[in-house]
This record gives sequence, C-alpha cells and structure tokens, in this order.
Amino acid sequence: MNLKDMIYHRKSFRSYTDEQLDVNTLRKIEDFIKNAKRLYPGEKLSWDIIGPEKIKCILPWRAPHNIAIYAERSTEALVNLGFVFQQVDLYLQSIGLGTCWLGMGKIADEAGEEFTDHSGMKCVMMIAFGKSEENLRSNAGEFKRKTLEEIADRADEKLECARLAPSAVNSQPWYFVHSGNTIHTYCMDRFFRKQFLGDMNKMDVGISLAHIYIENEDRFRYFTVENPPAEKGYLYIGSFEI
Ligand SMILES: Cc1cc2nc3c(=O)[nH]c(=O)nc-3n(C[C@H](O)[C@H](O)[C@H](O)COP(=O)(O)O)c2cc1C
Repeated sequence: MNLKDMIYHRKSFRSYTDEQLDVNTLRKIEDFIKNAKRLYPGEKLSWDIIGPEKIKCILPWRAPHNIAIYAERSTEALVNLGFVFQQVDLYLQSIGLGTCWLGMGKIADEAGEEFTDHSGMKCVMMIAFGKSEENLRSNAGEFKRKTLEEIADRADEKLECARLAPSAVNSQPWYFVHSGNTIHTYCMDRFFRKQFLGDMNKMDVGISLAHIYIENEDRFRYFTVENPPAEKGYLYIGSFEI
C-alpha cells in the first residue's frame, strides 16, 4: 500500500516480535526521515534510532526499535515534529512494520540520566517500531474518531483524512474553519496549562496536517495569516489550501 492508502488502514501497534531489522532497511528509514516534507523548514529537529534498553517506560510492552525525537518546545517546532514524523509513521506501516507514537516513555543512559541530542535539545517524543504479528485495519469504519461535523465549521469530505489521524490519548484536538478556498487550522487549548499534554496536542495537529498533505501532495500550500478568525478555546496554528 502507498502512504495515501495507509491513512485509511493504519493503527497503533502494541505488540512486536524481537526480530531486529537489517541495516539496509534501517538506512532506508533514515533516508525517508531526512527527506520527509517539513512544515516549518527553519525549526530544528533531530532524531536517533535506539533499542529498547535505553527506554524507561511504564508500558508493559517494548519494540525492538524506537525513534527518539528531539525538538524545541515552541508551537511551530512541535507542530513540525508531528507533521514530519506522521509521514514516517505512514511510511513504516506501508513497508509492513508496526508503529506506535510513545509520549509516555523517557530515554535514559545506564545511570538513569535523561539525555539530549548534540545541541542540547531534549527528547520530546518517541515512535516505537518493528515487526508485529498484528494486522492493519481493514477499513475506515474501524477507527474510533469524532465525526466530520465535530472537527470543522462544516462537514467537509476533504477533511476525512485529517479526521482519521492518530493523537495522544485519542484526544483529536484539531479544528478546521473554512474561509473561501482557505482552511484555517486550530488546536484545542484545554490542556495547555498541563504542559505535557499541551505539547502533545500541538504535535497531534501537525499529524493531522500530514494526512492532509499526503492526501493532496501536489496541491497542499501551507501559510500563516495575520488575522485569523478567533475561535474561543482554540489556538490558531496555520492555514492551508488544497
Ligand atoms: C503524540 C502521541 C502520543 C502517544 N503516546 C502514546 C503512548 O505513550 N502509549 C500508547 O500506547 N499510545 C500512544 N499514542 C497512541 C494513541 O493512543 C493512538 O494514536 C490513539 O488512541 C488512536 O488510535 P490509533 O493510532 O490506533 O488509530 C500516542 C499517539 C500520539 C499521536
């Protein structure tokens, strides 16, 4: 399946075999990450592929490989992270691997100390991946999500790809407002005072924008407007045309 098809079949995998991927596959994954489209090309983003032994996590399962993702904590950096790595999530599932975004994990060295990338940026998210015996979803009916009416000012089939996006604790914090050919994108700000979930919700909005980009690769144009319509309880993120 190609990346577009994966939007309608992907899921979070929470069981993996111990099998390690070969060097060639890992190199292709690195190349995909380097070449994935950036929403904010100026934002710093770095990553390492690490084994399960470096992860401290309360979850009962581990994957043989994990992407540790390092970024700043600005809104743009977090939205960009979600946008880039959701393309990676779709790519990994398209080559037959299981994945799961992992906000609950921390990476640590042998002494239990959290570590940073070479420029001092913290690991703010991980993605577990590897071979799994679980199956993909067979159709869009298997997704538990809000309706099209709940995620936008009007039901718009063009937003079906965004509706199906994964999000932290399935919170689906995205909201879309139409204005002519432009669609403004917002993030629900319910959790912003709790920095941890607030940060993840900004990544979630980047994740849903990645689905819109993959579905409309040739037409997607993203920009920021000066005076977006104010939406109570929501933070304006950016606008796009497709
Ligand atoms: C930013 C982010 C963080 C997540 N963190 C975790 C996590 O720590 N543990 C976990 O089991 N699932 C995690 N998930 C997976 C979500 O629970 C999952 O995407 C959501 O429930 C929708 O299910 P689906 O991915 O199977 O469609 C995370 C997802 C996102 C996008």
